[in-house]
Amino acid sequence: MARTRETFVCQACGAVHPRWQGKCDACGEWNSIVEEKAPPPASARPLPRSKGKARMELVDLKGDAPDAPRRKTGIGELDRVLGGGLVPASAILIGGDPGIGKSTLLLQAMAAVANGGGRAVYVSGEEAIGQIKMRARRLGLANANVELAAETNLAAILGTLEAGTPPDVVVIDSVQTLWSDTLDSAPGTVTQVRACAQELVRMAKSRGTAVLIVGHVTKDGQLAGPRVMEHMVDTVLYFEGERGHQFRVLRAVKNRFGPADEIGVFEMTGAGLTEVLNPSALFVGDREARASGAAVFAGIEGTRPVLVEIQALVAASPLGTPRRTVVGWDGGRLAMILAVLDARCGVGLGSHDVYLNVAGGLRIGEPAADLAVAAALLSSATDSPLPLDVVVFGEVSLSGAIRPVAQAEARLKEAAKLGFKSAWTPSGLKLGSTPLPVVEIGDLAQLVARFGDLP
Ligand code: TYD
Ligand code: MG
Repeated sequence: MARTRETFVCQACGAVHPRWQGKCDACGEWNSIVEEKAPPPASARPLPRSKGKARMELVDLKGDAPDAPRRKTGIGELDRVLGGGLVPASAILIGGDPGIGKSTLLLQAMAAVANGGGRAVYVSGEEAIGQIKMRARRLGLANANVELAAETNLAAILGTLEAGTPPDVVVIDSVQTLWSDTLDSAPGTVTQVRACAQELVRMAKSRGTAVLIVGHVTKDGQLAGPRVMEHMVDTVLYFEGERGHQFRVLRAVKNRFGPADEIGVFEMTGAGLTEVLNPSALFVGDREARASGAAVFAGIEGTRPVLVEIQALVAASPLGTPRRTVVGWDGGRLAMILAVLDARCGVGLGSHDVYLNVAGGLRIGEPAADLAVAAALLSSATDSPLPLDVVVFGEVSLSGAIRPVAQAEARLKEAAKLGFKSAWTPSGLKLGSTPLPVVEIGDLAQLVARFGDLP
């Protein structure tokens, strides 16, 4: 009998080590290495025997192939993030913090698919049938034609799904609860997650079923273990949002069938998730009462422009090392803006606490937000509010120059639509027709000059 060997597998990146160690050399993560039983070496397994002569079919690239017909889930914001609906035979990973609303969203999506005449199956490894039914009743979906199962055994799940008519869509909630009895490792370990995901993806491809797989994330926002499955699936979506905010953002991180970085915005209500059709109106807040320290950034999320208010508070610090707190933006980027303000414009905030917040729980990754962040900081530091009806965008370079950014016209159009009257932008934008009068800001010093003196 083949002896099973112990190996030590990093649960963050999947690297295999011969012995336990505190830090994974491959990804640098601490305390992520767990002992697992290695599968028997390849030579111990019988080699699959090919039947007949093995051949593959070669097809011309040219010539028509119909676009894969997509199945609309019936939830507009979800369809948008997927690139126009579910592609048959695709595998989609949905990551997110526990309690963010993944199960709610997917149960609603399955009900919508079933109501549209599709065959939808929802497999939960986390809740009992009774609990899922209770949730469905609360969501007003008790009459939807969704088939439910509470199961964690991969073989049982595949055995059922591979018999009879293939379902159109299957939800697996969540991959961390699945286990395959061919492996010795515990559910949720990298070995199990990888093997189960592989089988699910294979089932999706062979049966033409779209499979939505839920994966939990760790506290620092990485998909726990399933990092290793991000490359196996066609699409990776993250469901994010700040605790305490009712808004949730579904973001496409990878999508083989649509634009990455597309977002869908939802609101969590007592009756489940509802779509937010005009996110800009939501993230901009009440414009009647704008105080100092706020600037409206005209951003682009995926293919759509989104306006969002950036709030800053700059206050003299009693601490030796002043505090820097950032919510919804990159802390390193804030440090850079503060350094450029200091070095190029003489605005030193080294003895001040700086708090930066993106309204509504949205997370921004665009460098185009630099100028709006600088404006919010200066506005707070000088206690002078920005004009009520101005939006701001532009990238700050280390020299202090403001660099042009992509899709300026779309940003301006969205701002005009929401009633803004002008925009502070980089200079040299090549605009055909501007929907708004723009004020060109060539470098940070020109921005500083628009505010009063530092107190
Ligand atoms: P859930 O979908 O269970 O999260 P996940 O599957 O990502 O862990 O969402 C649970 C949270 O959503 C819970 O905190 C309660 C809240 N919620 C509502 O506010 N309204 C609702 O109608 C439902 C079903 C849940
Ligand atoms: Mg859940």
